Amino acid sequence: MHNSTQQIDQVVTVGLHERSYPIIIGSQLLTQLTTHFPALPKQLLVISNATVAKLYLPALQQALAAHQLVVHLIGDGEQYKSLQHYTEVMDTLIAQGFNRDCAIIALGGGVVGDLAGFVAATYQRGVSFYQIPTTLLAQVDSSVGGKTAVNHPGGKNLIGAFYQPQAVLIDHQCLHTLSDRDYACGLAEIIKYGIIYDAEFFNWLEQQADQLVARDGAAVSYAIARSCAIKAAIVAADETEQGVRALLNLGHTFGHAIEAHDYHQWRHGEAVAVGIIIASHYMLQQGQLQQLDVERITALVRRCGLPTMAPTLPIERWQGYMQRDKKVKAGQLRLVLPTAIGAAELRVVTDWQAVYQAILAVSHG
Ligand code: NAD
Ligand code: GLY
Repeated sequence: MHNSTQQIDQVVTVGLHERSYPIIIGSQLLTQLTTHFPALPKQLLVISNATVAKLYLPALQQALAAHQLVVHLIGDGEQYKSLQHYTEVMDTLIAQGFNRDCAIIALGGGVVGDLAGFVAATYQRGVSFYQIPTTLLAQVDSSVGGKTAVNHPGGKNLIGAFYQPQAVLIDHQCLHTLSDRDYACGLAEIIKYGIIYDAEFFNWLEQQADQLVARDGAAVSYAIARSCAIKAAIVAADETEQGVRALLNLGHTFGHAIEAHDYHQWRHGEAVAVGIIIASHYMLQQGQLQQLDVERITALVRRCGLPTMAPTLPIERWQGYMQRDKKVKAGQLRLVLPTAIGAAELRVVTDWQAVYQAILAVSHG
């Protein structure tokens, strides 16, 4: 059977020597899965959630009809990225007699991908893992680079492992069913890549913002491919975040504080978008980023349908939330800060008043 509408736009390689893998980007790719994942073993566990399964599991099941396929669905939401649901997946694998030659396929957003990756990393000390990300955030960020984890009541992603997939298949057609809010959250991560790494890409995003918001296929595909290429380069240089990989956390320390304050109101990408703007204002106030760059960053975030204002909180609350950040070492706050559009640095910051001034510059009231 040949699907004539299938199209591969680009293949990006994550270069990690013998663990290198392809990120295949295109449209209508799911029905031809075995062509894109030629080394799939017989025994497969697909992990997904009910929302995504309803939309995309039938295509996968059809493509994998010759395999021994078991499906494990989790509920929809961050709370399912937990040790309890990890254990339930393990129960399924053991009950179904899965051996070390099996593979785990993640079909869904970052929640499914992170949980499935941690299952793959630990079942029988590690089995093959394939990612089919279906949110924009997962397509440009979480499915690439091998960070896998579940949450603990004491914090997000506290239990996990670095474990790279065998391949990532990105079908940007899947994005047409995504909510506007979840789509915008992915755009926040795409903007992040332009700021930390690639001024040309940032220029392109400014020119193509309307097409991106309208989910134009060619624009979305290029934005995904460029984002994945940037992430691949950073991961290849620093797989376990000893240095440059920390730059991928631009806006995240502020963003995590906003999420911790009110996770019902804020999506991760929205909080990161505001965090990026706070980091930009901090550098403006330090005289190390130009006013025009701050204006361009804020305008692009706004055009992508993302918030640009932070909640109003006293300094002690910000300090409390931000000191829980994983980048805090020996009590010292370390922030990713843009030095220009296209460049950023990780710096130790000791002057909380200066940080708070930057927060106030983008707070309501
Ligand atoms: P998510 O997985 O919760 O997906 C968001 C929503 O979109 C869910 O309701 C989901 O059911 C729905 N959905 C998914 N695909 C859909 C589609 N094609 N059509 C319609 N609905 C669809 O959230 P997310 O934003 O994808 O990921 C967030 C998670 O990713 C967090 O747990 C975060 O910690 C993690 N993350 C991990 C990394 C990493 O490097 N591993 C990086 C960034 C974020
Ligand atoms: N999302 C941050 C990273 O993968 O390092």
